[in-house]
Amino acid sequence: MTMIIKQIWMQLYQFITLVSTLTCPLLTKSEISPVLINKFELAHPGFLTLLRTWTLNSTSWGLFISCFNAIPETTDSVYSVPNIGQQLTTQIIPTRITSQITWPNGIVSADPLVEYSMIVPSGFLVPGKTNGNLYFISETTITPLVPSDKTNWFYHDAEFKDMDGDGFIDIIAGRANVPLIGAPRTQLIWLKNPGNRTITGPWKLNYLLSDGGPDIQVQFAIVDSLQVLFANSFFERKLQMFWSDSDPFWNDTTKLHVRHIDYEPLPYAYVQLTVDLNGDNKPDLLVTVNDEFNGSLIAYELPPSGEIRTGNFVKHILASGFKPLTQAKGRGAPGEGIAIQFYSLAIRKKPILILSGDDDGCVYLLEAIHDNDPSNWEYSTTIIHKSEKSTIGQVTVEDVDNDGYLEMFVPAYNENIVYIYRLMEK
Ligand SMILES: *[C@@H]1O[C@H](CO)[C@@H](O)[C@H](O)[C@H]1NC(C)=O
Ligand SMILES: *[C@@H]1O[C@H](CO)[C@@H](O)[C@H](O)[C@H]1NC(C)=O
Ligand SMILES: *[C@@H]1O[C@H](CO)[C@@H](O)[C@H](O)[C@H]1NC(C)=O
Ligand SMILES: *[C@@H]1O[C@H](CO)[C@@H](O)[C@H](O)[C@H]1NC(C)=O
Repeated sequence: MTMIIKQIWMQLYQFITLVSTLTCPLLTKSEISPVLINKFELAHPGFLTLLRTWTLNSTSWGLFISCFNAIPETTDSVYSVPNIGQQLTTQIIPTRITSQITWPNGIVSADPLVEYSMIVPSGFLVPGKTNGNLYFISETTITPLVPSDKTNWFYHDAEFKDMDGDGFIDIIAGRANVPLIGAPRTQLIWLKNPGNRTITGPWKLNYLLSDGGPDIQVQFAIVDSLQVLFANSFFERKLQMFWSDSDPFWNDTTKLHVRHIDYEPLPYAYVQLTVDLNGDNKPDLLVTVNDEFNGSLIAYELPPSGEIRTGNFVKHILASGFKPLTQAKGRGAPGEGIAIQFYSLAIRKKPILILSGDDDGCVYLLEAIHDNDPSNWEYSTTIIHKSEKSTIGQVTVEDVDNDGYLEMFVPAYNENIVYIYRLMEK
């Protein structure tokens, strides 16, 4: 029913757009207004992730929540709200999946390994919380995948690829080790899938870069028919791209190339390759630089076709000047930015951007000012959520109830609240 209404609306929308472009070339976009529809309590929600789950013989969205505190040597919890689309206006009580993981970070779908499974990367540079792992969770079993050597590496992301061509999907990740005294160390590793039917124990650890690798995000993409890996280092302040001369085999480190896309004097917090930001139908990188005084949201255009190995990544600063509510070492802003296609392509040719402010307590909506001009990178920035004294964690957005409107989930870490908004049009 809602699908049909959506389709009719889309057709009507396209018709109106057609008529308006014929009669009125200066069609203004509708205004996006977030409407708070619910909230629920949970101690220290940090990262939110929506994953497709299997409940009652069908797939639906499940909300997964990584929670942690800074008390040394304690373990933390991961919660879920199954079938969140059916619970949007009810009293939400999350279910605890585990209380045995130290500082769980953003959760990653592990569907390439086992359908409806996930990986929880864990650990952080907080004292007593540095010994992280990549935890594989399928139904109720929780398996650490990195062999434990008690050396205090921590993890923020995971990617999937058969690295050695044996027919089994392996895992790739960056990791960091930040001693109290001395320089941080960062590595790019991969874990070999032993090919067992069920995942029961740690996988063999292999190195792609045993020093100076990425430590936060990793993302495979195919550009100009070349398989590349985009990645960022927070602690070594690098934005990197890797490829292998022996692709599809990536297990020979002598065949691996690394290119530094850019250097900043500041830490790169997030990187992701988007479908397109500026309306030229070419992928762009969306990157955040997290800082205590002047954090920013940055886009990079990929080099022209055929030049991915050596061509120039053109940089555009979309917004800057972000800083934490109270300045202190270890605090920063902003957090992750995400690109979202908002309704009809006819009016909004460029995706909207939702940016978590991290330690500045806000969530921002960025909208392109000139949708029809791919050479223009100006954005308007609006605060769409503000917490007076709370860090905002990882925000996630999907139409979880399939009503044609996007729902936005906002974790307010110090308030112990998860806010749920629906992105409506005025
Ligand atoms: C799920 O599907 C099975 C097999 O088709 C059926 O027996 C069962 O009743 C279904 N369960 C629910 C909750 O719909
Ligand atoms: C998994 O596979 C490896 C390599 O084939 C084997 O040595 C190990 O015993 C297997 N583990 C389990 C639990 O089946
Ligand atoms: C990579 O994997 C292939 C296939 O399993 C193997 O033949 C080759 O020796 C491996 N290369 C290295 C450098 O380990
Ligand atoms: C803040 O950072 C942006 C992006 O790097 C830069 O363009 C701007 O000049 C900086 N502002 C200040 C006050 O340093």
